[in-house]
Amino acid sequence: MTLVHGGQLQQIAEQYRIPVSDWLDLSTGIAPFAYPIPNIPLQAWQQLPQKNPALITAAKQYYQCSELIVTNGSQAIIKALPELYRQENTAGRKVYLPERGYKEHAQAWTLAGYQLHFYQDSLPDITTLLPSSVLVVINPNNPTGQFFDRAVISQYHQKLKQLNGLLVLDEAFIDVMPKNQSYCSEVNDNGEDNNILILRSFGKFFGLAGIRIGFLVAGNYWCQKFKELLGPWQVNGPAQIIAEKALSDIAWHKEQCVKLHTLRLQQEAILWQAFPSKLVNSIQGCDLFLTLSFHQADNAKALYHLLCKQGVYCRLSDEQDTLRFGITLEENFKRLKIACVQACAELVSNN
Ligand SMILES: Cc1ncc(COP(=O)(O)O)c(C=O)c1O
Repeated sequence: MTLVHGGQLQQIAEQYRIPVSDWLDLSTGIAPFAYPIPNIPLQAWQQLPQKNPALITAAKQYYQCSELIVTNGSQAIIKALPELYRQENTAGRKVYLPERGYKEHAQAWTLAGYQLHFYQDSLPDITTLLPSSVLVVINPNNPTGQFFDRAVISQYHQKLKQLNGLLVLDEAFIDVMPKNQSYCSEVNDNGEDNNILILRSFGKFFGLAGIRIGFLVAGNYWCQKFKELLGPWQVNGPAQIIAEKALSDIAWHKEQCVKLHTLRLQQEAILWQAFPSKLVNSIQGCDLFLTLSFHQADNAKALYHLLCKQGVYCRLSDEQDTLRFGITLEENFKRLKIACVQACAELVSNN
């Protein structure tokens, strides 16, 4: 089954008969400022991608870890992991996942024949975790923004080690969390920790989702297994050059964090002004997206449609009861506010 994601502008534009160029696309959580593309030497386009030690060094420095591999987006690992894990660990068939969250995880584990157990507000009771089970944590969660701190993650990590299970930490959006709260630096016990995998997405924070690059932070065992499975040429040469430069540019990282945080605060205020509190229950998220939940769940779908009619494309959750808005540029705030006010007015008059 193909899952619905944000970023399907072409399709939505056709559906609503509005030219692509007229849309305000807030359907993803990709930063609105992209890392500037450096000059790419011709050889990078001509030759097959080669091992790039400078990229690996830059990535280890940025992610503060001792072992990682570069992949064609973190999605490549999400898709390949369950089959590989089934071959490596035949003892367990249970995986704990957030009920709401990036659905590719659930789909991949289902396809590999695992039994899914869902949790939401709190992680599953640690005393009930089964031997050889897998726990997936999306931190922060997309779309709920829910975040578990390092101490909590550490307890589950230790427990899953004892149980010979696996902790899968999807840190796709963690770059924007204050004070580097990533768990990557904890995966450094001489590469011998086989009970944890951390996924890092490059495209979101650096605003370059199109170049398809991501990283797996894990012990040596899993890194080797995935290298063998995925084979050579996972990531094209130009993407490697861009990522190497971007990951090393500390001044840009700092500036990006400040800019995104400022925009997030402004956009959150605008959404609160545009949506009356009798409609909206809460706004959660991080500095890359904001998710609105409603007192009356079916208002999300109606508002999504009313916004699309005005050429404003946000993401209606898979459960059809929340709306996620990617953080956008200041110059789009006025249009966003007007569209939201108009959508609310129409919703009220239609009811
Ligand atoms: C939570 C989460 N994890 C992973 C991914 C995959 O991203 P990528 O393959 O670009 O790294 C996404 C994409 O939206 C996501 O939302």
